[in-house]
Amino acid sequence: MTIDIHSQKILIIDFGSQYTQLIGRRVREAGVYCEILPWDLDDNVIKDFAPSGVILSGGPESVAFDDAPTISPALLALDVPILGICYGMQALAEHFGGKVEPSAKHEFGFARVAIEKDNALFNGISDHAESGKNYLDVWMSHGDKVVAMPEGFDLIASTESAPIAAMASESKKIYAVQFHPEVTHTLQGQRLIEHFVHGICGCDSLWTPENIIDDAIATIREQVKDQKVLLGLSGGVDSSVVAALLHKAIGDQLTCVFVDNGLLRLNEGDNVMQMFSDNMGVKVIRADSEALFLGKLEGVSDPEQKRKIIGNTFIEVFDDEAAKLKDVKFLAQGTIYPDVIESAASKHGKAHVIKSHHNVGGLPDDMAFELVEPLRELFKDEVRKLGLALGLPYDMVYRHPFPGPGLGVRILGEVKKEYADVLRQADAIFMEELHAADWYHKTSQAFAVFLPVKSVGVVGDGRRYAWVVSLRAVETIDFMTARWAHLPYELLEKVSSRIINEISDVSRVTYDISSKPPATIEWE
Ligand code: XMP
Repeated sequence: MTIDIHSQKILIIDFGSQYTQLIGRRVREAGVYCEILPWDLDDNVIKDFAPSGVILSGGPESVAFDDAPTISPALLALDVPILGICYGMQALAEHFGGKVEPSAKHEFGFARVAIEKDNALFNGISDHAESGKNYLDVWMSHGDKVVAMPEGFDLIASTESAPIAAMASESKKIYAVQFHPEVTHTLQGQRLIEHFVHGICGCDSLWTPENIIDDAIATIREQVKDQKVLLGLSGGVDSSVVAALLHKAIGDQLTCVFVDNGLLRLNEGDNVMQMFSDNMGVKVIRADSEALFLGKLEGVSDPEQKRKIIGNTFIEVFDDEAAKLKDVKFLAQGTIYPDVIESAASKHGKAHVIKSHHNVGGLPDDMAFELVEPLRELFKDEVRKLGLALGLPYDMVYRHPFPGPGLGVRILGEVKKEYADVLRQADAIFMEELHAADWYHKTSQAFAVFLPVKSVGVVGDGRRYAWVVSLRAVETIDFMTARWAHLPYELLEKVSSRIINEISDVSRVTYDISSKPPATIEWE
């Protein structure tokens, strides 16, 4: 019998903090299912969701404003434990008759809070002990603070600048912290979340990769029955995990289409085929479409136009391959939970940042398929854990993101096969050396860029007049901002010398030291 992994769950109310998704990830890491929903959600949804506990997120607003987000009485009517974080704490204070005021200055950064009273949330955790008192190292980020607690609440932590840094009403099972347990700078943050979901809400750790896989397999089988499923396999993490999962669930009923657009990394196509078709026995159709893509890109140098052409041609090829298959009823997609939250938030008109880049390969709405989206409930780190549990190699599951238009946006201006071949070789050398020096996983994304300008060099006794390649490596959490990676000089020197010596069409290698913003990660 499969375990009902959704039977115990936490509801996370989003007041608009940039850290709300992190709260979700921490709860899941503690092995408990959770959903993130907007604060102004319908009472019936709250009731039907029937959570074992509620976490109120932080948020950018001030409770003093007339239209400030508030706590729905339906949440309190659930009569389950509540944890308020930052704005969530202020909203609780306001709701129960306490007082919130603006701080003299916005507090942002590390703080050491003193534990004032033992309680089930802190439950014996301590980073420092001094003169009989215990302290926690935490991350603060707030403008307002609670200056008077509501009746029935006890002070459980304080700092000099926020004398009421945490409060609790243990009889009501309501806890509130001014700091952010969800960010890793709060050293014991994960334990604190675990104390809440396990100790206070009484949830077990049902949300494990193995249980998620069993559940996904049962759900897929129930949805698909004996019908056929089609999947666009790109070799990226999400579609690879979907392929592995569907193959495990329905075997031969799955057919994957892998579109080789000629803009992939060195040996990428062969590697994908070997991994899925040869090793795992997945049915994969490889559509070799290099000539078609390069033909359509001829003479085009505008980046957005190139993106459009590559995206549309992908759909064309995919459609053609799909049409050749008989009786396919379902289309599988690697939609993940952050996509679901973002599109829900944008429907609600919330001020969430929407990425300007969507995966090329977004298929038209009018395709006559029903969707299978087995990763819809998962964060990216959960997708990776699932991939490992399904037996996919570590290097595939933890690889850097690769843009849908591929090398098409890494060859500046017009795309030509000659350029793509040079770039593939340079990029492969860079990747090889990054791995050898143990730097690949210390960067978030790294690649080579082809510059269609020639520069002079001297090799041996001869003059060389050849292309320029730039290397790019960045560190980032969210890809919205990024810092150029401070790779060691020795590593850069080795990559540069190998590229110039091994590729006769390259005379010069540069390293991109632009951060985002104002530069973007890709060059186009
Ligand atoms: P930028 O260049 O905007 O990139 O700093 C941020 C992240 O998005 C990726 N990227 C794309 N991904 N289609 C994609 O699927 C695209 O057209 C595209 N353009 C950029 C980029 O590689 C980085 O991870």
